[in-house]
Amino acid sequence: MIENIEQYLEEIENFQSTDPEEIEAFRVKYLGRKGILNSLFAEFKEIPNEEKPKVGKQINELKEKTQNKVNELKSVSKKKKKTQEFDLTLPSYPFETGSRHPISLTRKKIIKIFSNLGFTISEGPEMEDDWHVFSALNFPEAHPARDMQDTFFIDRNPDVLLRTHTSSVQVRVMKNSQPPIRTISPGRVFRNEAISARAHCIFHQVEGLYVDKDVSFSDLKQTLIYFAKEMFGPDTEIRLRPSFFPFTEPSAELDISCTLCGGEGCNVCKYTGFLEILGCGMVDPNVLENCNIDSTKYTGFAFGMGIERIAQLNYNVNDLRLYFENDKRFLDQFKSEF
Ligand code: DAH
Repeated sequence: MIENIEQYLEEIENFQSTDPEEIEAFRVKYLGRKGILNSLFAEFKEIPNEEKPKVGKQINELKEKTQNKVNELKSVSKKKKKTQEFDLTLPSYPFETGSRHPISLTRKKIIKIFSNLGFTISEGPEMEDDWHVFSALNFPEAHPARDMQDTFFIDRNPDVLLRTHTSSVQVRVMKNSQPPIRTISPGRVFRNEAISARAHCIFHQVEGLYVDKDVSFSDLKQTLIYFAKEMFGPDTEIRLRPSFFPFTEPSAELDISCTLCGGEGCNVCKYTGFLEILGCGMVDPNVLENCNIDSTKYTGFAFGMGIERIAQLNYNVNDLRLYFENDKRFLDQFKSEF
């Protein structure tokens, strides 16, 4: 019997496995109801009394060792299972990259084109006072743009408002520097409009300003031709129509040949062959003087365009609301552009 026990002890010490089924079979073999240990205890009753202390001690030792072994193997096998949960051979999760917003893409392109011509970038506050947005820009006292219906006033204070155009930045630049000035000012503007496919209360503009000695209307025209061809392609034609803005004299609106039909006439250009993209003109001498620039020495041109309008033409997106809703299905479509 003692020999048997020694054999069992050796077997227990040598047994190795991480397979839970094998470990369980091993446990049953030794510790199960009909297992080796129970049959040893049964045999133990039969042996002579004087051998009992020694053999009893050995059987107990065997039982303890078996139990320890089973516990040890079980915990190793559990740990192994845990590490196996990370299957390093699996393909990785797709890495979702973001994309630039079409308004950012368009702004970036506009900035690039004008930086090629030496224009700097300037910015101003979105919350402004009446002087920078209207008075300095030659708006008459009772101009409808100052009306509550168009302008958002802060706390109903007529002197604190959200800028309705980025032309306010040209006032700030001229106030703070002397010619030569060649700058563009991209930014958000706000108007009290009901939101629809064609109008929004927030949108983006880029203002342009060039003030120096002998700046002429033909400089303005050449600058805008260059811009139109860079933005919409080398075959783009422009058309200047006389217009009116309080801060420019003379003033004009710029049309480009239709980006869809190239001037032949289609439903995008309403069969006129042209699309309006911006307002421009020669800076009114009153505006120069308001900003402490000598209008007898200097002349300048200015222009202002809506970024949404340019984006609409580039991407054929005709509902303005899409630019503000941040719908992923819309934004994902601009992933290929940088
Ligand atoms: N500020 C005008 C607007 O919001 C756009 C504009 C027109 C800006 C003519 C100019 C300009 O600088 O010369 O509609």
